[in-house]
Amino acid sequence: MDTAKDQVVPASAATPAGASAGDPRPAGSAPGTSTGLAAAGDFAALSVPHLSPILGRYYERSWSHGEGHTLFDSSGRGFLDFACGIATTSLGHHHPAVTAAIKDQADKLLHICNALGYLEPVAQLATLLADACPDPLDTVFFCNSGAEAIEAALKLARRVTGRPGIVAFRGAFHGRTFGAASITSSSINYRQGYEPLLPSVYLTPFPNVYRYFGDDEEAATAGAMAALRTLLSHEIPPTSVAAIIIEPIQGEGGFNPAPASFLRQLRALCDENGIMLILDEVQSGVARTGKMWAFEHAGIVPDVVCVAKALANGMPLGAIVSRRELQERWGVGAHGTTFGGNPVCCAAGVAVMRTIEEQGLVSNAAARGAELLAGLKALMAKDDRIGDVRGPGLMVGVELVRDRVTREPDGETCEALVQACADQGLLVLNCGTHHSVVRFLPPIDVTSAEIATGIDLFAAALRALPRATA
Ligand SMILES: Cc1ncc(COP(=O)(O)O)c(C=O)c1O
Repeated sequence: MDTAKDQVVPASAATPAGASAGDPRPAGSAPGTSTGLAAAGDFAALSVPHLSPILGRYYERSWSHGEGHTLFDSSGRGFLDFACGIATTSLGHHHPAVTAAIKDQADKLLHICNALGYLEPVAQLATLLADACPDPLDTVFFCNSGAEAIEAALKLARRVTGRPGIVAFRGAFHGRTFGAASITSSSINYRQGYEPLLPSVYLTPFPNVYRYFGDDEEAATAGAMAALRTLLSHEIPPTSVAAIIIEPIQGEGGFNPAPASFLRQLRALCDENGIMLILDEVQSGVARTGKMWAFEHAGIVPDVVCVAKALANGMPLGAIVSRRELQERWGVGAHGTTFGGNPVCCAAGVAVMRTIEEQGLVSNAAARGAELLAGLKALMAKDDRIGDVRGPGLMVGVELVRDRVTREPDGETCEALVQACADQGLLVLNCGTHHSVVRFLPPIDVTSAEIATGIDLFAAALRALPRATA
């Protein structure tokens, strides 16, 4: 049942769209309101006969359009969007600068393939990305998605080092293509039936502070480093390892931040052994965590950064960034793409990067994130179904547990809670190997008032959710 249909705001209550001074976005974009633009429609019924059933869906809802931080379903009901298309529409929907950039570039040129020559928005975005990365990361290869960025990084690492080995972390999610799936283990479903996966891939434990180390970051760092050293002394020598790849905050795996001390020790181990350190910032990057890149919280600089999702606010675009010498050694023609670095996507990316800079959105993500964390922790103090609230900036996870002492994950309650949140008018998603973590991914230009509304809606959803009986 689509519960949203029971709560449709009548068309007569709709606030007409119209720009107000100083805010170029149409008014009437608060949750539960309607712009009156929505077409009635059940797109599920339309989709079922011919769309592949392969995709798992968070919601059985049909969506119509988005305005600012509100997503509207096809009946016209607005939802406060703290899911952002899984950390992608970080500037919200129908953002004036992004939309204008897309329209402008679409009027000029849709595609040539970057193998044919040079284009202004592509060069501009490469410059902005290089500027947004610490030295010596200054050279960008564009592709279409997060998984493609991972593939590019793995291929670069093997070719440049001449070594086969790739070390990744248990519980990671890096994407669905064969290389990316080979280093992904957040769910067995991403691997099962696809063997043989990429050879010379080794998985090692992630320093999961909450689940395995009783909130002790030092113990998590020591434990995960010891396991990695064991791997390197028993299974593959460091001299055969091309790269170690890690998400600074595991995303799909449950919003698990790696301790800063661990990332620093990993950097040192890579330096000692000529191993490339690849940071997957596909979900955590582009200002989401209160820094431009989550690895900055640890004060390290990786050899390669993988970027996608929020880079073009919903247009398909991925990238890797490294120092120039590495991509020179990679070799001309060693990798390539037809669509990667499409000019319309890059124009959107330029608008994203300029907006982040002009509006100080890195600091906004840090400040609003602190408010979100505090609000959710206050809820945790009153509700023992919440076992943990964690994450920097606007990448915050709330873990549901059956028991605070045993920390047994409660995926059932979490999944029900995500639906209850939507019933209240708030879009959040769940993640984690046990589906037990609610992830909050608000837009990075979110306001304090919206954070407060999001927390209130989440609290109402928690209240509405019946407690499981023992
Ligand atoms: C950390 C991380 N890496 C890689 C990917 C894969 O990105 P895409 O779905 O664009 O291929 C994702 C997607 O969720 C991700 O979260």
